[in-house]
Amino acid sequence: MNRTVVVSNQKGGVGKTTSAVSIAAALARSNKRVVLVDLDPQCNLTKGLGLGEAAHNVYGALLGEYRLKAYAAGPPNLAVVAGSPALSAFEHTKGNELNREFLLRELLVPLSERCDFVVIDCPPALGLITLNAYVCAHEVLIPLEAQQYALDGLEKVLEFVTRVQQRFNPTLKVGGIFFTKHDKRKVLRRQMAELVHSQHPELLLNTIIRESIALGEAPSLGLDIFSYAPESAGATDYQALVTEILSR
Ligand SMILES: Nc1ncnc2c1ncn2[C@@H]1O[C@H](COP(=O)(O)OP(=O)(O)OP(=O)(O)O)[C@@H](O)[C@H]1O
Ligand SMILES: [Mg+2]
Repeated sequence: MNRTVVVSNQKGGVGKTTSAVSIAAALARSNKRVVLVDLDPQCNLTKGLGLGEAAHNVYGALLGEYRLKAYAAGPPNLAVVAGSPALSAFEHTKGNELNREFLLRELLVPLSERCDFVVIDCPPALGLITLNAYVCAHEVLIPLEAQQYALDGLEKVLEFVTRVQQRFNPTLKVGGIFFTKHDKRKVLRRQMAELVHSQHPELLLNTIIRESIALGEAPSLGLDIFSYAPESAGATDYQALVTEILSR
């Protein structure tokens, strides 16, 4: 059965896009057919995989102009639905439509039938775009950067998951919370991890993504971390994360 995974946190810069691309690439390397969807108007995912100006992007499909198109990008088995800066107008354009929460789910059906995983990268917000992602998802993965206000954002994401479960998608679950950009010189992560563990013991994943220069460099070359630096800490950690996610 296809599994649709959303990477989301309303906080900016915590590693959502890096995680979405790296998780998708790790899955593709283990022979899963993966479709990666860029739902962020910043289009960092699209650009980071070298898909500059795609003729068909997710926004045009949401407007009903064409069907969702996934372009081959990155390693074999991986296809990408390109984002668009125009997505920032989505809430304004579609906010009053009756089926506004279900637009992406309907579009994804033909693609998800042909793959093993759909991985969706969300913008740093909990608006209509992210709602569309949660409505199609089986699970939400929440990256946290170990820093002082990380947990404020976490509670808002968890509340959002509960609201979507109650109103639109009863089988949605939190697939896991994990720490990114870990710097062992900083003690903060341990305190944060203890707090998350005490509040949500069943949700915190064991894998920690270390700070890794290669993870920052790979997108500027249009590559995923496994193609760019397979021996790096980033590649090792994201492979471990995917192994853990698949075992849950
Ligand atoms: N483990 C890591 N080690 C080093 N740098 C990282 C790591 N993860 C992410 N980065 C860098 O941190 C920055 C933010 O990461 P990323 O774009 O993945 O976050 P995001 O949550 O998607 O941000 P936004 O909210 O703007 O969409 C990027 O420059 C990225 O290369
Ligand atoms: Mg991002």
